[in-house]
Amino acid sequence: MPVIVFASPKGGAGKTTSALVLATQIARHSPVTVIDADPNRPIKNWAEGENTPAGFHVIADADEENILDYIEEAASKTPYVVVDLEGTASKIVLLAVSQADLVIIPMQPSQLDADQASRALRVVRQQEKMSRRVVPYGVLFTRTNNAVRSRTLRHIAQTLTDSGIRVFRSELNEREAFRAMFAFGEPLEKLDPADVSNVPKAIENAEWFAEEVAEMLREASTVGDANG
Ligand SMILES: Nc1ncnc2c1ncn2[C@@H]1O[C@H](COP(=O)(O)OP(=O)(O)OP(=O)(O)O)[C@@H](O)[C@H]1O
Ligand SMILES: [Mg+2]
Repeated sequence: MPVIVFASPKGGAGKTTSALVLATQIARHSPVTVIDADPNRPIKNWAEGENTPAGFHVIADADEENILDYIEEAASKTPYVVVDLEGTASKIVLLAVSQADLVIIPMQPSQLDADQASRALRVVRQQEKMSRRVVPYGVLFTRTNNAVRSRTLRHIAQTLTDSGIRVFRSELNEREAFRAMFAFGEPLEKLDPADVSNVPKAIENAEWFAEEVAEMLREASTVGDANG
């Protein structure tokens, strides 16, 4: 029952976008519940669209009082749980991370964003100490240019890797289709190519990301088996 938590104290890092992209990819093969902890309920609102996949569920209004119960409830109902947290480093992040099989820290490739994301990394480490278990996590670069890997991005990725932080090979490119999902309330596959450019490229990108998440979950469960 993988629980995948998107966390970063940086507002606008791409948590909600990448959470929805991943959850809709998962929904193509398995039921999934998204716990929407954003007070603006972006994923709850998205799911009110008419082409929401059948196995796609949302629990909104999560807060630090109810998050553990919501995650437990979701995990008992669907094989996958995706948690989209609000952009603040607070108790709810620590609680959600305590339940995570994988923490994804979205980050735009800028040094200022990297500095803020390091706060999310500290929360993961804190939680590892508190619970004495390894919490698998990775930094996901978002809103990147699909044509070139900028020098800034390469430099930041190298700095992270050098300090032992895992960086996703996949990235979420800057694409109109990822914004259009929210604007039209549709999954990528239902966007009209007449309205939105390069939808197939966005789908390819979403699949690339989802495959790497699956790979990380497989690795994490192997490590978990070895420990337990
Ligand atoms: N890959 C992308 N391509 C295009 N636009 C993107 C992409 N990722 C995010 N955005 C845009 O960037 C803005 C911030 O993204 P998003 O809401 O996903 O971030 P967030 O981390 O959830 O923010 P918050 O901390 O406010 O919850 C939004 O306007 C979103 O449409
Ligand atoms: Mg958000």
